[in-house]
Amino acid sequence: MIDLRSDTVTRPTPAMRHAMANAEVGDDVFGEDPTVHGLEDELAGMLGHEAGVFCPSGTMTNQIAIHLHTRAGDEVICEEGAHFYRYEGGGVMANSGASVKLIPGDRGRFTADQVRSAINDPKAEWLARTSLVSLENTCNRGGGAVWDLNEVKAIRKLCKSHGLAIHLDGARLFNALAATQEAPDAWGREFDTVSICLSKGLGAPVGSVLVGSKELVAEARRVRKRLGGGMRQVGVLAAAGLHAIRHHRARIDEDHVRAHRLRTVLEGLDHVQRVMPVDTNIIIYELREDHAADVHVAELKANGVLCMAISSHQVRMVTHLDITDADIEHTMHVLQRRGS
Ligand SMILES: Cc1ncc(COP(=O)(O)O)c(C=O)c1O
Repeated sequence: MIDLRSDTVTRPTPAMRHAMANAEVGDDVFGEDPTVHGLEDELAGMLGHEAGVFCPSGTMTNQIAIHLHTRAGDEVICEEGAHFYRYEGGGVMANSGASVKLIPGDRGRFTADQVRSAINDPKAEWLARTSLVSLENTCNRGGGAVWDLNEVKAIRKLCKSHGLAIHLDGARLFNALAATQEAPDAWGREFDTVSICLSKGLGAPVGSVLVGSKELVAEARRVRKRLGGGMRQVGVLAAAGLHAIRHHRARIDEDHVRAHRLRTVLEGLDHVQRVMPVDTNIIIYELREDHAADVHVAELKANGVLCMAISSHQVRMVTHLDITDADIEHTMHVLQRRGS
């Protein structure tokens, strides 16, 4: 099967497995795992932050960040497709007692002006206190859309002038950076906290790192423990993450080129109504009214290609480390045969 459902499906390469098998480990709840420290320090340094904390998932790093920046009753400003709002089990309400103010964006992105009008007047005691603005780069529900750093800078400035924290869900930040050629620290410095997923475009099996100031990360460790995310000899997983950031970043572009090839074919198919622009490794397309997404997905599956229906007429494909040029050619062939 050619699995284009998500970039989370990658399996560790032989070299990554070797690094995992040879990792030096210790009890990380006691702060004694050197490989975990290595991963946390390397990512924090790369993003221009003081410290990092390794967590089991991107859901946990996002949820911890929201908890650090809010108090019960506060409001978080985010885009209406934000992962932490849509797909993290209502965690923002359950874990932090906070609510959200949703901005309708352009493929997941929004402007400083939109943020300005979403901030509640702090003098109005009947309104929820706005305490955090959260961005996602790339935007998953926006088809892997990439933000403009200048807009981020304007949002950051606005947040500072209103005393608001700013968090980045950077589950696929390295895909964004591969597309724009910007430096990780140029992005990292614009945020109080950044969540990086190792298990998506980077191709590690598990794990995310939250970076921030020493004080924020010390508090994040407490929240991680409370949520059950303290892990023991977890250097075997951190080693996979370190291998991914050292050896897989340079190849991310290949995934983007393959995604563009798929887009080109999809655009020429009669039963495809619209293909969202492709900036990185995510392709979202919409079928014509008389074509249901689940039927389309089942047809592709019968021909050896897995993809995902994300609404009644929308389908998502994601390229990643385990997808080769031959896989793309097979998928293009299946799509074209189906479309003729
Ligand atoms: C943008 C974004 N943020 C956060 C997550 C959560 O990551 P995890 O599945 O590791 O909890 C995902 C997962 O796909 C995601 O796409």
